[in-house]
Amino acid sequence: MKIDTAEFIISNSDVSKCPKEPLPEYAFIGRSNVGKSSLINMLTNNKNLAKTSSKPGKTQLINHFKINSNWFLVDLPGYGYAKVSKHTKQVFQKFITQYFEKREQLVCAFVLIDIRHEAQKIDLEFINYLGETQVPFCIIFTKADKISKGKIDQHIAAYKKQLLANNWEEMPPHFVTSSQDGTGRDTVLEYIDEVNQS
Ligand code: GTP
Ligand code: MG
Repeated sequence: MKIDTAEFIISNSDVSKCPKEPLPEYAFIGRSNVGKSSLINMLTNNKNLAKTSSKPGKTQLINHFKINSNWFLVDLPGYGYAKVSKHTKQVFQKFITQYFEKREQLVCAFVLIDIRHEAQKIDLEFINYLGETQVPFCIIFTKADKISKGKIDQHIAAYKKQLLANNWEEMPPHFVTSSQDGTGRDTVLEYIDEVNQS
C-alpha cells in the first residue's frame, strides 16, 4: 500500500475525545522504548510525525494520525516504565485500558516486542488482557537490525513457545521490523490494507 498522506490529528488522554469518524484504526502498544513511535514514522516515511526519544516515557497521550484520509494509526504511551511515578502509571493504565475496552473503531492492536529480549511477564500479561478483552492483535518484533537473522528466528520460536505455555493455541499474526532500515514496512502495510478491505 502506498502512503500518500499522513497527518497528526489530535492527542488526548480521554477516549471519548478521540476522533468521531467511523474509520478503522490500528494502535501500537508495548513497553516504553520498544519503538512504537519510530515504527509509525517508518511506516509513514516521515521521521517527524510521531515524537521519539532514546529515553523511555516519551509518548504520554493517545495520538491519532490519519493516513490516506481513510484510516488511523494510533500511538500510545508505553507500559512497564519503572521510572514514572505510581500516580502517572495509574493514570496511563486507566486511559490505555479505556481505549482498548471502549474504542469501537479499533480493528487491530499491534503489540510491539523488542526482538532482542526473552518474553517478559508484563508483555504476556498484556497479551492475555487483550485476549480477555477480545481485541484482535498481532505481534511486531522490533529492532531487527540489532541481531542476526539466525537469532531472529530463534527468538521468535522461543516466543511462540512462551505463548503456547500461556494457554494460547497459536501464535497470532506476527511481523519483524526495523525502523532503522525499513525491514517489514511492506508486510505490515499490506496486512493493514487487507484488513481495511475485509
Ligand atoms: P515511549 O513513547 O517512551 O513508550 O517509546 P516508544 O516505544 O515510542 O519508542 P521510540 O520510538 O521513541 O524509540 C525508542 C528508542 O529506540 C529511540 O532511541 C529509537 O531511535 C530506538 N529505536 C526504535 N526503533 C528502532 C529500530 O528498529 N532499530 C533501532 N536500532 N533502534 C530503534
Ligand atoms: Mg512513543
